[in-house]
Order: sequence, then structure tokens, then C-alpha cells
Amino acid sequence: MKLWSGRFSKDTRKLMDDFHSSISFDCILYKHDITGSIAHAEMLGRQGIIPKEDADAVCAALAGILQDIQDGKVSFSTEAEDIHMNVESLLIERIGDTGKRLHTGRSRNDQVALDIRMYMKEQLLSIRSLLAELCSVIMDIAQNNAETVMPGYTHLQKAQPITLGHHAMAYCFMFLRDIDRINDCYKRTNICPLGSCALAGTTYPLDREYVASRLGFDGITLNSLDGVSDRDFLIEAASCFSAIMVHLSRYCEELVLWSSNEFGFVEMDDRFSTGSSIMPQKKNPDVCELIRGKSGRVFGDLQALLTMLKGLPLAYNKDMQEDKESIFDAVNTVKGCLEIFTATLASCKFNARKMRDGSLLGFTNATDAADYMVKKGLPFREAHRVIGSMVLYCIEHGCSLSDLDLNTLKEFSPCFEEDFYQAISLETCINSRITPGGPAPDSVLASVQQARRMLSALISKP
Ligand code: ARG
Repeated sequence: MKLWSGRFSKDTRKLMDDFHSSISFDCILYKHDITGSIAHAEMLGRQGIIPKEDADAVCAALAGILQDIQDGKVSFSTEAEDIHMNVESLLIERIGDTGKRLHTGRSRNDQVALDIRMYMKEQLLSIRSLLAELCSVIMDIAQNNAETVMPGYTHLQKAQPITLGHHAMAYCFMFLRDIDRINDCYKRTNICPLGSCALAGTTYPLDREYVASRLGFDGITLNSLDGVSDRDFLIEAASCFSAIMVHLSRYCEELVLWSSNEFGFVEMDDRFSTGSSIMPQKKNPDVCELIRGKSGRVFGDLQALLTMLKGLPLAYNKDMQEDKESIFDAVNTVKGCLEIFTATLASCKFNARKMRDGSLLGFTNATDAADYMVKKGLPFREAHRVIGSMVLYCIEHGCSLSDLDLNTLKEFSPCFEEDFYQAISLETCINSRITPGGPAPDSVLASVQQARRMLSALISKP
């Protein structure tokens, strides 16, 4: 029999039960649901809203139910609709009428809002730890490769030489921003809605602050209509997760390119690669491709949440039950991707020789050659034109700028002297780019130091 059956004269059809029941997916909230109920029952007892002995009995029975669920001794029922009513039915089954007192001054509307906030708090912290591990792996790569020269690209055309450490730190700062965003989202998630009840609060003298602090929340929601209908924190979380997936998929795309024969910059470990069923030579970067592909799921989850909430009148509407599968999918996808990406990246072997060879081709030192002329007194725009025509000459003659002898150089401009060759060497190009945040080895090492400090500050909150 349904807990709300009093007003009904007919049973729901099975078709209806199957359609609106959420137990198949919200069952994962059992721990949060029971922990929230224990805090609520304790508060009811303290406030004298229900007899203290009844509150104690409810709490003890709930603790037993939690243990039994964890031990796999409980099977949930679709007929009981969702996790909240499944737990309450079990409670009533075990302690009879006393169990019927638990739902005093509470509604499933504030209960589900509480459960999902408790779930998200846990998940945000666990995603934050995964991001921190990834940042550590990246910082180690950067530290070990502060001097590993590689070509930097724009438009996927060789542009200027950089270092692998510099490239890695670009991603590190993206993931540090993701952690910062998660911390921010955590702040707004960490507010307790319990006491909003169905929509209009209650006539019972609840102690909302007690329940909130007992459950580790920072404070209470300030409007009961908003308390039950706010899912902004899920939208924020899904958008943080989307940004993480964007960052992961960009890194993945680069590793896919780099592991191709054309680049040959990286070799992924066998443990994280796959072969082909027909082509014996193949070694495919599946992890990176799958992460790139899965980013779409998380963006879709964000869209689903936005669309679900858009235009909903206050306060609770059953549409809101649809928040769960989306956010659960986003959480599981982002966690799975972060975990395997960190392991895959840590096992990557970078080919410093290929990267260096790649930097020597494609005129990555052309800007430095123009800067050389500027230092000899030419205006930059003029230097740009002269070097451009030298590049064209080199392309026609199948050589690079440093292959031109001094006589040929002087035909382009009298300003060239013997020191030109040193000025456009890879080492000079890299070592003289000492802008803070630039590719020079010293700048990279300074960035790593700074990022390590930022990371420890970010993970020491909240
Ligand atoms: N399973 C529901 C959900 O996830 C719980 C809240 C139900 N409230 C209601 N008034 N029907 O949203």
C-alpha cells in the first residue's frame, strides 16, 4: 500500500508505477537519505515535536536499515516509488507506528533537495581530488621537461619554439581553474534546504540550524519556495564538469595527434592502448578518443538540466526528478575520464628528439630572426617583410634560415652579421623568452613552483 494512499480509491496501474518510480536510479542516495533522516529525527526529539524515546527508536532503526542496505540485505521496491519512501516503508515495517512519526515537519520535496546536495558535496570533493592528482602528474611532467624543446603551433601550423614543460603547464592552469570553480560551486551547494517542507515551511518549531550544522552544512536556505525548487547548484556543477571535459578533450586531441606517425612526439603505454582486429601494426590511442567522445555526454547532461528547469513554475514539479540521471551521468563520466586520463598521461613517453627535430623545421625561429633585425635598428614591420621574403627563398631552395651563408644574408639586408646564427638558434629562441608564464626553462620552473602553491591553497578549502 502506498504511503499516500488515503485520498485514493483505486490502486495505480503497474504501468504508472514503472513510469514515475525513480528508485532504480535514486537508490544510490540511500546513505544521504538515511543520514538526513537521522538528523531530522534527532531534532524532532530535541524540540519535543515527537517523544524523545520515539526519536531514539527511529534513529536506531534507521541506522540498522543503513547497515542492512550496505550489507546487501535489502531489496528496494518500485511500488514504493523512490528512495525516500522505500526507506520510510522499511522503517514502518520494522518499528510500526513509531516509524510513522519521522515524516513530521518534512516533505519529500525538501528531503530530495537535501539528499542531492549531500551527494553533490561528496562528489565535488572527490572530483576535486582527482583534479589535484592530475595537476600533480602534469607538474611533474613540466618539471622534468622544462628544457625539452618542441614546436608551438597556431592554426596547427608551426609557429614558435616552446618547451614541453611550458605546454604541460598550460593544461595545469586550466585544471587549477576547474578546481577553483568546483570550490565556488561547493560553497553554494553547502546550504541546507531541510525545513522548507513541501513549499511553505511548517507550523512545527523546527531547529533548522541544528540540522544544518549536524549534517555539516554552512547555513540554511533563506526561502522555502526557493529551498525546494533550486537546482542551480546542479547546473553550476554540470557546467564546471563541462569545462573539465573541454580541457580533457583538448589535451586528448593533442595526444592523439602527437601519437600519430606524422608527429611521433609521444608513445602511449601498451596498458592504455588498443590494437586493430585486422591491421597488425596498429596501436590506437583509444583512451584519449573515448574521453574526447564522452565530453558530449556531459555537455548533454548540462543541456538536459537547463531545459528541465527552464520555465518551471514554483515550487516543486515532478519534472525535477529528471535532474538525477543527468547529474549522476555527468559525475560518473567526469570521474571515470579524470581517473583514466591521469594514469594514461603519467605513463606517456615523450620523444624529446622528435620534438626537437620538429622545432628545427617549419621556420619556428622566423620571429626571432625579425627581432634580430629590429635590434639592429630596423622597424618591425620592415623586418617582418624581409624575413618573409627570406623564408620564401628558403622554401624554394629547400633549406632553413640558418643554412643561408653571410653573403646571401647580406643580399637581403646589410644589417646581418655573424651573430645572426646564434640569435636564431633554438636555444636562444627558448632561453630568451623569459616573460613570466613563457616557455624558457626558468619561467617554466617558476610556474611549477607557483602552481604547486596554488594547488595546495585550493585543496585546503573548504
Ligand atoms: N523522487 C522525487 C524526486 O526525485 C522525490 C520528490 C517527490 N515529491 C513529490 N512531491 N512527488 O524529485
